[in-house]
Amino acid sequence: EASLTTLHLLATDPSAVAQAAELARDGQLVAVPTETVYGLAADAKQPDAVKKIFAAKGRPADHPLIVHLADKSLVTEWVETLPDYFDALADAFWPGPLTIVAKKQAHVSDIVTGGHPTVGIRVPNHPAMLALLQHINSGLAAPSANPYKKISPTTAEQVLFGLSGKIAAVLDGGPCEVGLESTIVDISSATPRILRAGPITKAALEAVLNIEVDEPDVHTVAVPGNVKAHYQPSKPLTLLSTEELVARLCGQCEANTGVLYYSSQIERMLSENSANNELVDLKLGADKAKYAQGLYHGLHQLDQSSATEILLEAPPTAPEWRDVNDRLMRAAAQ
Ligand code: TXA
Ligand code: MG
Repeated sequence: EASLTTLHLLATDPSAVAQAAELARDGQLVAVPTETVYGLAADAKQPDAVKKIFAAKGRPADHPLIVHLADKSLVTEWVETLPDYFDALADAFWPGPLTIVAKKQAHVSDIVTGGHPTVGIRVPNHPAMLALLQHINSGLAAPSANPYKKISPTTAEQVLFGLSGKIAAVLDGGPCEVGLESTIVDISSATPRILRAGPITKAALEAVLNIEVDEPDVHTVAVPGNVKAHYQPSKPLTLLSTEELVARLCGQCEANTGVLYYSSQIERMLSENSANNELVDLKLGADKAKYAQGLYHGLHQLDQSSATEILLEAPPTAPEWRDVNDRLMRAAAQ
């Protein structure tokens, strides 16, 4: 396939959004910033453009895409039936890291939905992305802007690292605030059901809706894309408890071992133990939001460093860390 010259458009440049809109209208692929991760977007009303997404990512055709919209009022254009609780959900969490799955309108292409009768919809919370959506006056179908099974990008540089030459442009809106993919909720029945854990937890959904929300064990849910090995760095990744990591760091570590950690205990060890100064180490924030914001970026950095393997201090397992643990389990799966 012919290699494209991928444009790096800075969202701070006044003409960048118009240029990105022009490319999308022309049926080309543009990587876009959102608050969660960067997306790889095509006009959702042009099936031939949407097809290019699967080719660029190497993604199986039956994995459905999320359609991004400028605001809640446009949802009925894409979705046939909405439950009573839809308004409360959208008013509380949009624009934001929540994707709804509901029965699609007949015109929504099977290319977008992977042949499913439902469609995923999200109103993202990023000023440049919202400006782009208003400009094109359509939906943007977009999965995360990473090659299939790799780690999602949270900066334009990481988008280019994975997809340069395969897409027309990246609209650079800076590093993503949230850093982890949206919560996906199936709202096609009376009881909402979480299909993918994300920044908006079951407890947060229930607090707004005053009804019970199902959160099945993710491994029992047949969501395409919920495959076990996913979000993977190319170097071997091992999750260790703080105690296990302490033991490893006290013993003989190979030079160029990558260490991704968050606790002050590990930080102290690393600064006190000069025998370990050949390590490639990186500290993540200790609170959940900061940790999530830095996680993919940290994995990308260690993956592209001289480190030959990555040791990761496993984060807490409290309910609000569910999305982080879900992604890490997949990242470390064999
Ligand atoms: O935060 C996010 O959700 C990011 C940004 C770019 O919006 N997007 C994202 O897209 O993570 P992607 O394609 O990497 O993951 C979307 C997930 C897939 O696992 C897919 O199976 C699921 O959403 N999905 C989309 N439409 C669906 C549908 N109709 N039924 C069930 N699952 C669906
Ligand atoms: Mg993805």
